[in-house]
Amino acid sequence: MSASPFDIRTFIDEVFAPQAGERVLLLVDEPTAQHPLNADWKARYALAGEWRGAFSELGEERGFEVLPILRFPAAAAHHAPFPAFGTLDGRRVSIDDTLDEVSLAIGMNEVSMTSGLAMASMRRPGAANFRAASAPLLRKDMEDACLAIDYAALRHRCEVLEALVEGAVAAEVEFATGDRCRFDLRHRRPGVDNGYLRRDKEGIPLINLPSGEVWITPYEGEVAGDVPRTEGVIPVALDDGSVASFRVEANRVVAVEGENPARDHYRRIFDVDPMRRNVGEIAFGCNPGARVSGLYIEDEKAGFHWGFGRSDFLGGTVGPAEFLNESTVMHVDNPYARDCPITVSADLIDAAGGRTAVLQSGNYVI
Ligand SMILES: [Fe+2]
Repeated sequence: MSASPFDIRTFIDEVFAPQAGERVLLLVDEPTAQHPLNADWKARYALAGEWRGAFSELGEERGFEVLPILRFPAAAAHHAPFPAFGTLDGRRVSIDDTLDEVSLAIGMNEVSMTSGLAMASMRRPGAANFRAASAPLLRKDMEDACLAIDYAALRHRCEVLEALVEGAVAAEVEFATGDRCRFDLRHRRPGVDNGYLRRDKEGIPLINLPSGEVWITPYEGEVAGDVPRTEGVIPVALDDGSVASFRVEANRVVAVEGENPARDHYRRIFDVDPMRRNVGEIAFGCNPGARVSGLYIEDEKAGFHWGFGRSDFLGGTVGPAEFLNESTVMHVDNPYARDCPITVSADLIDAAGGRTAVLQSGNYVI
């Protein structure tokens, strides 16, 4: 349901509107022993080259600079911090220093660096200074689907969802499996990714590509004497169709039951570092062109998702310091959009107890 075929110049202007004097950086990660190269990853290098070419052409016309592509070894896990060094035109450079010298960064990574880019944005607050798009797992075929969308319509859609989440103290989610979980949204405010990343963007100067979600981190218990009330059972499907069952109490996954291999897969993940058990996000994805194909970054933009682990880059309190070490930091998004193995119905509850149905069986009803 894209508005028109993808035109990279239209897209760049719609989303980023780069201005004279800017410095633009694209980043790609490289395979490691832990993360071997795959076909999509290899193809992403060509895509990064294409995008850089388009930015460079525009830059010559408008007077902004486009740096060589910054390459670095893939991080251990999604949302682990950036490694210290990368290469720029074959030169060894500090990644943080390089990020601190550009005004726009686009991460086209195999292992998501959204939180690393968010940290860079916090070092120089304000979109006029620095803004970043995180495009983990980006693929060429996304251009005509979830990138060439009507961004004005997406902004409007996000406004409607944001207002609802802003007024909510809890979300009640019923999964197609019959399991239910109540998410405690007190003490928190929503964040919005509406695909707008121009220099006058207000709030967090960071988007995903594909864009389109309103998220909130559930309350994590930082207020003395106020225990988080997030509790219930969350089913999580593995690629092979097996479904693990997470029991959640006080915003932590306290037990993993259900079918194998999903059960053992997630038990292993949580055994590595207890902080991975944190419920770190719930969100409503709303990109009108998002397809559901098993690729989380696009699937999550098509409906409800939740994430476990790190949450500081989304407005929560769980950052790398809470984990055992840098290599065990993790945030994993789990989508439940229409056509996902498990769908949800979701209601938002306001402070007066009023209930608004947002999703029914994977489809939006607002
Ligand atoms: Fe999200």
